[in-house]
Amino acid sequence: MDFSLSQEHELIRESAYKFGQTCVLPGLAERDREHVSDKDLLKKMGDAGFLGMAIPAKYGGTDSDYISLGIVCEELERADSTARVVMSVHSGLHSMTLMQWGTDAQKEEWLPGLATGKLVGAFGLTEPNAGSDASSLRTNVRRDGDHYILNGEKTWISLADYADQFLVIARTADAPADKPNYVALIVPRNLEGFSSRPLKGKLGVRAGNTGQIFFDNVRVPVSNRLGDEGDGFKVAMSALDHGRYTVAAGAVGIITACLDACNKYANDRTVQGEPIGRKQLVQQMIASMVKGRDVGRLLYYQVGWMKNVGLRHTRECSMAKWVNCEAAFDAANKAIEIHGAYGYSDEFPVERYFRNSRGAMIYEGTHEIHTIVQAEYELGYRSDKPLKYTLPTYPFA
Ligand code: CAA
Repeated sequence: MDFSLSQEHELIRESAYKFGQTCVLPGLAERDREHVSDKDLLKKMGDAGFLGMAIPAKYGGTDSDYISLGIVCEELERADSTARVVMSVHSGLHSMTLMQWGTDAQKEEWLPGLATGKLVGAFGLTEPNAGSDASSLRTNVRRDGDHYILNGEKTWISLADYADQFLVIARTADAPADKPNYVALIVPRNLEGFSSRPLKGKLGVRAGNTGQIFFDNVRVPVSNRLGDEGDGFKVAMSALDHGRYTVAAGAVGIITACLDACNKYANDRTVQGEPIGRKQLVQQMIASMVKGRDVGRLLYYQVGWMKNVGLRHTRECSMAKWVNCEAAFDAANKAIEIHGAYGYSDEFPVERYFRNSRGAMIYEGTHEIHTIVQAEYELGYRSDKPLKYTLPTYPFA
C-alpha cells in the first residue's frame, strides 16, 4: 500500500492554502460578525479550478483525483468553513451525484458549467419535519405528461439564495404512505413557482448563505430526473457519500487551523517565565489535536482512495465524517482552553472554529446517525447492496 501523496497533491494543497489566505480570510471576521457572505467567493473558487476538482476534463473539470478534492476541502476549511461548505454542496452533493447518476446528455448539459462555476449547484433533502429521518420527507411530485409538478419546501439549504439549480429529493404524490416512491430532480431556480429565503441567527458558518427553498407547482421536465422513478432516496444517500467525504476532509482543516493558532499562542504566551507550550497540560491538548489531525487525514485519504479505485465506501465515509467532526470540535474546544480568556473573544479565531465545528456534527448526518450506522454495520443489521451507477474511477477514461 502506498501512502505517499504525489507532487500534484502537494501543489494542490499549496494553492488551496494560498487561496484561503488571500481570497477567504481578508474581511472574514467582519463578514462572520455581520452574517454576510462573500458573493464573489464562488466565482473566485471557479476561477481557481476548485469547482472542477474530481470531474473529468471531458466535462470541463480539472481531471484531478478524489484525494485532491479532499485536500482542497481541508485547506479551504483551514481558512474558514464557508469555503469548504461551497465545495461540499456544489461539488460533493450536486456535481458528483450528477456525475454518478446522470445520463450522458445530463452530464454534457450541466457538468461543464458546474465545473467552472458558471453554474452553481446545491442540494435539497432536509425539510422542517425530515432531518435525520430523511425518508419522511413530504415534498412531492405529480406527473403531468413530460413534466413533474413539484410542491413542498426544504430547509437548511446551503447556497439557497445563490445556486442556479438544486438537486431536490421528493416523493411521488400517488404512492401509498407505507410504500413511498422517491424521485431526484435537478430543479433550476428560474422556474416559475420557485422561491428562496435566507435563514438568520446561525451559531456558526455565519459568512455562508443558508436558507429555505419553496416549490409552488413548479413544472420540472421529466428529463431533469436523475436515475429512474423510485431511485430518489438512493440518489440522496449516494450524494451523502460524496458530501460527507468533503466534510470529513474539511474537519481536518479546522484541526490544523486550531494548531496554527495554538502553536503560535503557546510559544508567545509566557507563564512563570516560560512559554505555556512548555507546560505539560498544554502539551497534552496539543498532542490530542495532532492525533485528531493525523488520524483524520488517514481516514479521509482512505475514502478518497476508495473513490479513486471504485470501491463502495458508505461505511468508511460515515466513519471519517463522524470521527473527524468530533475531533475538530474537540480541537476547537481545547484551542479555546489554551487561549484562556482570549479564546473566548473574537480577537482570536478559535471561537469561530468552535462555532463552525459544532455545525459539522449535525449536518450531513448527526453524531447519533453515524453512531447508529456504525453499530448496525458491525452487528450485521446493515449491509450495502450493489449500486446501480457508480462514480468514474481514477484516472478518468
Ligand atoms: N448509495 C446508494 N444507495 C444507498 C446508499 C448509498 N450510500 N445507502 C443506502 N442506500 C439504499 C439502500 O440499499 C436501500 O435500498 P433498498 O430500498 O433497495 O433496500 C435504500 O437506499 C434505503 O437505505 P436504508 O435502508 O439505509 O435507509 P434508512 O431509511 O434506514 O436510512 C439513514 C437511514 C442512514 C439514517 C438515513 O436516513 C440518513 O443517512 N439520515 C441522515 C440524513 C442526512 O445526513 N441529512 C443531511 C442532509 S444534507 C445537509 O445537511 C447539507 C445541506 O447543505 C443541505
